[in-house]
Amino acid sequence: MKLSKAWRLGPLGMKDVQQILHPPRHRGQLKRPTWIIVLISLVCMFLVVAYIYPPQTSSACYIFSASGCQTISSWLPPSIRELTDDEVASHVVINNILSTPPVESKNPKIAFMFLTVGSLPFEKLWDKFFQGHEGRFSIYIHASRYKPVHSSNYFVNREIRSGKVEWGTISMVEAEKRLLANALKNPDNQHFVLLSDSCVPLHDFDYVYNYLIYTNISFIDSFPDPGPHGNGRYSEHMLPEVEKKYFRKGAQWFTMKRQHALVVMADSLYYSKFRDYCRPGMADGRNCYADEHYLPTFFHMHDPNGIANWSVTHVDWSERKWHPKSYEKKDISEQLLKNITSIMESVHVTSEEKMETMIMPCMWNGMNRPCYLFARKFLPETLDSMIGLFSNYTTKT
Ligand SMILES: *[C@@H]1O[C@H](CO)[C@@H](O)[C@H](O)[C@H]1NC(C)=O
Ligand SMILES: *[C@@H]1O[C@H](CO)[C@@H](O)[C@H](O)[C@H]1NC(C)=O
Ligand SMILES: *[C@@H]1O[C@H](CO)[C@@H](O)[C@H](O)[C@H]1NC(C)=O
Ligand SMILES: *[C@@H]1O[C@H](CO)[C@@H](O)[C@H](O)[C@H]1NC(C)=O
Repeated sequence: MKLSKAWRLGPLGMKDVQQILHPPRHRGQLKRPTWIIVLISLVCMFLVVAYIYPPQTSSACYIFSASGCQTISSWLPPSIRELTDDEVASHVVINNILSTPPVESKNPKIAFMFLTVGSLPFEKLWDKFFQGHEGRFSIYIHASRYKPVHSSNYFVNREIRSGKVEWGTISMVEAEKRLLANALKNPDNQHFVLLSDSCVPLHDFDYVYNYLIYTNISFIDSFPDPGPHGNGRYSEHMLPEVEKKYFRKGAQWFTMKRQHALVVMADSLYYSKFRDYCRPGMADGRNCYADEHYLPTFFHMHDPNGIANWSVTHVDWSERKWHPKSYEKKDISEQLLKNITSIMESVHVTSEEKMETMIMPCMWNGMNRPCYLFARKFLPETLDSMIGLFSNYTTKT
């Protein structure tokens, strides 16, 4: 498309070029109007060239000043690929859901969705968290392997029909969708939180409830990673729907407003691309993990301003190992929890060799606020210390 447009512009540009290169001799000197034409032609040529060969490097952008690149591309008509039938259908459904205000509930609830293997080691801590807030939350458990044994009444009979979950495969996303589908059945559920069995709450219930109910965005982690563990996992089989420039990465632990949960239910087109072409052990030996890329990419494409781009579930990658830090009993202190709850900036590190770090203030309805409501990975042995500290660290100071 780009090319054909450029060619259509071509003849005009060529004519101008001829005038510049072979000015009519008999006039001897160029008069003022001619100079203006020459100047305009030069600018036109420059724009045509800039359109055909958009500046790739920041040094090229620098010629036009810092914001030059953006300005030039916004002057020119965007080159639009013709969407496939499936994409047109998908876009119209997604945009309709996003522009329809959610059904108002007299009794808005938060759905806490636990993705576990079996029993939840922190049920007793969550019991403290939920106590006294009956009617403002609902719990769903997807136990992929063993039937959970409960130590809190809030969790009894809250299991949904589950399926096998293999780490890093699409079955993880399937389980997330199963939880969302079950939680969406209750129209009171307005915001949906995905948690693991190693997650703990960092604040009291009211704080978490207000943080999530009074926001109009979803806290979905999404950032560009040009490195091997980001774009290095992208496969061109995802074309034409998923272009590399839209490919994003992010931790799977989301919170989602109701419209976004519906949009996930409505999507099969993009989902199937990730199911088929973002898998561990792909044909060319690369690995892709759908749970880290599907939702971050999908929402970046369809509602970039509707997601926060960070997750409200804290995890400590500072040891830079293959797995994040697991907190042991000896690590637990009031200071550790205060440290985590006082973080006001989200940090993303790319997987390139130079490990570029992106730091963003955590913005909640236009205000800079602490980023995290939950944290992982806590080992079961920390349960008693966490219960002992719960009222201390959740007390507002
Ligand atoms: C959220 O609300 C703010 C202000 O109320 C508004 O500026 C913003 O566009 C809204 N965002 C979305 C995704 O609806
Ligand atoms: C999330 O990132 C996208 C793309 O970089 C950006 O357009 C959007 O404004 C960001 N969201 C918020 C809430 O800042
Ligand atoms: C809390 O943060 C302070 C300042 O960054 C640091 O010196 C201290 O070691 C941290 N404490 C814990 C328990 O993480
Ligand atoms: C909790 O906080 C109170 C008052 O700040 C303090 O006296 C108490 O020792 C703390 N408890 C624990 C377990 O740290």
